[in-house]
Amino acid sequence: MGTGRHSVGDVVLVSTFLMQLFRPLDILGWVYREIKQGLIDMDFLFTLLDRPLEIEDAPGAPDLAVPSGAVRLRDVVFAYEPRRTILHGLSLEIPAGHTLAVVGHSGAGKSTLSRILYRFYDIQSGSVTIDGQDIRAVTQESLRKVIGIVPQDTVLFNDSIRYNIEYGRPGASTAEIEQAAARAQIHDFILSLPDGYETVVGERGLKLSGGEKQRVAIARTLLKDPPILILDEATSALDTRTEREIQAALDAAIINRTTLIIAHRLSTVVNADRIIVLHEGRIIEEGAHAELLARNGVYADMWRQQQEAALGEAFAAAN
Ligand SMILES: Nc1ncnc2c1ncn2[C@@H]1O[C@H](COP(=O)(O)OP(=O)(O)OP(=O)(O)O)[C@@H](O)[C@H]1O
Ligand SMILES: [Mg+2]
Repeated sequence: MGTGRHSVGDVVLVSTFLMQLFRPLDILGWVYREIKQGLIDMDFLFTLLDRPLEIEDAPGAPDLAVPSGAVRLRDVVFAYEPRRTILHGLSLEIPAGHTLAVVGHSGAGKSTLSRILYRFYDIQSGSVTIDGQDIRAVTQESLRKVIGIVPQDTVLFNDSIRYNIEYGRPGASTAEIEQAAARAQIHDFILSLPDGYETVVGERGLKLSGGEKQRVAIARTLLKDPPILILDEATSALDTRTEREIQAALDAAIINRTTLIIAHRLSTVVNADRIIVLHEGRIIEEGAHAELLARNGVYADMWRQQQEAALGEAFAAAN
């Protein structure tokens, strides 16, 4: 080969050599990318789930059966860290098909309730049951299948908008996905993007606004169509008009469905069957909206303050 002239054999040899060298590298690269993506997805998943990894199914645990969807918490004591108890023996009940609203100041433990129901965390004592079955005694997969959460902070996958909505019910048809998006008032926005439903969102794609993310999360949950629904400040990032437009879809979704609504804005919970005021992990008042107003306690105070604030805003807007 030192003569500068190469035979066909040499070329074949060299290209075979290069093939042998690069094929594995190519595969290695592919494997690397796949693993990395897998890790990123897992990372996102666990951020999304916001839970420690050690929660495991009890050996031989059966699937949860949900004939009606009644939820019950009994004397629930819970702490994220041993030295600081968050829920101090909480008991509550959501009869099948009913709506329970939980209100209270920031840090009261409202979102913690939703994390416990979804079993991101196990409680220290007491029990959480769905249709009489302790959620620790059934498989996590079957539990999470029947609960749909619109979380306070939505984390999206680094994937297409379609994937992010379809995640609510893998295998859903395009028509079903687009219908859910339309009900969540995000369909037209998606169509306005150059890549439409294939637009990649998240860290490495299009950054969605808080309200857009929230609507994707609502679409995902509407598509999932679960028997038990948790709305954790589900419309807090939306402007009043968009909120009103979505409210109709949410109002329709909660009919005949066991629902837990967590909200700061009391105007969104007035129709709930029952309202609980949570304060530092304890129930300090409970009843229907009118009852709580009549009691003239903490809830009535919160209601008056919010009414005044709303009036103030309306006044400012008019001037
Ligand atoms: N992963 C966690 N580890 C430790 N402490 C936590 C964790 N998540 C929440 N907490 C604490 O638990 C308490 C209740 O939190 P939670 O998120 O339930 O409040 P919240 O009522 O939903 O408040 P907000 O209205 O601000 O959403 C807070 O004091 C918070 O600091
Ligand atoms: Mg919260």
